[in-house]
Amino acid sequence: MSAPHLEAARPTTPGTDPGSPATDVRTPGPAPALRGEAYAVGRVDEVPPGEGRAFVAGGVQVAVFRLRDGSLHATQAACPHAGGPLADGQTDVDVLVCPLHLYAYRWRDGASTSGAAPIRVYPVHESGGEIVVEV
Ligand code: FES
Repeated sequence: MSAPHLEAARPTTPGTDPGSPATDVRTPGPAPALRGEAYAVGRVDEVPPGEGRAFVAGGVQVAVFRLRDGSLHATQAACPHAGGPLADGQTDVDVLVCPLHLYAYRWRDGASTSGAAPIRVYPVHESGGEIVVEV
């Protein structure tokens, strides 16, 4: 299986590039919606439904989750509270719960629903059975 095709960095306007969400899209300045480099980190079937696994994407430790509905989510690997292994957390359709002290984080934006600092969430998708994470 080959790595996903990555285009050269180029400016874009969100919503005007319907070609591929996996492409490297960068805009100048500190825009929070920057998309990073895409990395194939492993096979989807390495992550059982309802569970998470830790991977490395371009030198960044990430936790990838496959929910029971089949959707994929990716977050930073370590909990910002005290470094808990988020890949071992409990999941539902809206949040990830850290296994150490049970702080919860929304998939949508990484915000904590229990008062902790937010976590980073990364774009992730499946391509030919591979998990592709943008960091
Ligand atoms: S280490 Fe995650 S909630 Fe404390």
